[in-house]
Amino acid sequence: MDKKTVRDLPDSQIRGKRALVRCDFNVPLEGARITDDSRIQASLPTIRYLIERGGRVVLLSHLGRPKGKPDAKYSLQPVAIRLEELLGKPVQFVETTDTDEAIKASHSLKDGEVLLLENTRFLGGEEQNDPRLSRALAELGDYYVNDAFGAAHRAHSSTAGVAAHLKPAVAGLLLEKELDYLGKALASPKRPFVAILGGAKISGKIDVIEQMLPKVDAMLVGGAMACTFFRAMGLETGKSLVEEDRVDMAKDILDRAGTKLILPHDAIVAPAMDQPERAHAVARAAIPAGEGVFDIGPKTAESYSRAIASAKTVIWNGPMGVAETPAFARGTEAIAKAMADATAKGAVTIVGGGDSAAAVADAGLSERMSHVSTGGGASLEFLEGKPLPGVEALEDRAA
Ligand code: 3PG
Repeated sequence: MDKKTVRDLPDSQIRGKRALVRCDFNVPLEGARITDDSRIQASLPTIRYLIERGGRVVLLSHLGRPKGKPDAKYSLQPVAIRLEELLGKPVQFVETTDTDEAIKASHSLKDGEVLLLENTRFLGGEEQNDPRLSRALAELGDYYVNDAFGAAHRAHSSTAGVAAHLKPAVAGLLLEKELDYLGKALASPKRPFVAILGGAKISGKIDVIEQMLPKVDAMLVGGAMACTFFRAMGLETGKSLVEEDRVDMAKDILDRAGTKLILPHDAIVAPAMDQPERAHAVARAAIPAGEGVFDIGPKTAESYSRAIASAKTVIWNGPMGVAETPAFARGTEAIAKAMADATAKGAVTIVGGGDSAAAVADAGLSERMSHVSTGGGASLEFLEGKPLPGVEALEDRAA
């Protein structure tokens, strides 16, 4: 990790000073109920680190995509309530979108107190990385901490722009941990190194495939994107989701990948996604013309699990099937279970955020992975080898 972190700040820099901390509290909500608070939980170490040293903590986050103006359904109020419960101390929630008022509130904080400001995406200019907003946000703190790994791929005022106007600008403990796990796995993996890629579309994963193929010992493919490869191999894909415009690209990848790229040998098919009661397994060469693929088959789940069992480093991004439907979730569950077992045997296991993280949480296996990323898009962009603006904006350790 070549960026400064909160641990590089002397305690004298923290005590009595306002830390402007950007978190990713973009949590799933049903009305005002938070259905998964793992992103809030993951932010606690940094907040506690600062509180314990007498810091005054001003928290920023986005929630949803409210398009630059207030929208009650994207209020961070439920997050303030949950954070208060988790921290076991009051969290002042400042609802205003008037930055002057927010700045005033930040100055009224005492040592060890915490304040959460309303959704940054209620502010015009946030997503445009408007320098005027970045300068105003910079007045909310005496230094800046970015702990929002999940939003680090966004060049917004609160994730990147503000760092130009507020120094020191350092990483929080969550951001540091995420970059450490993902960075080490890519730069110096213990081998065998196995990547598992799933999800619907090859188009969203093409850069990850290109970036990771030279680094891994095996790449196991699942999800509907396997069907685009099947089509490239000349197999019948029935009613499966196939990206016609990516078939040539899939052919080219197959030609170059050799034996490293492994595709499912069998699949769970059904006449339609809403007919799970008609699900059955077939060999990949026997997909019926009138049915579609909705999961990897049992033989594939078994052989992928064996590959995971013999790996020392495993990175997984994207479900193997339609994991919300139990009849199409077995492949995804098998991967989660195999990774949990591999962790117990000493492998480093990393789950890229988003749908695969949700599947692991549903299976109750999150604690049994080395690391479950809080970033869906961000971890994908990291694996694609793209620089993350939220990280780039921070100070280098050597500087
Ligand atoms: C996420 O959920 O991936 C992050 O919070 C980023 O959200 P966004 O895709 O709306 O920028």
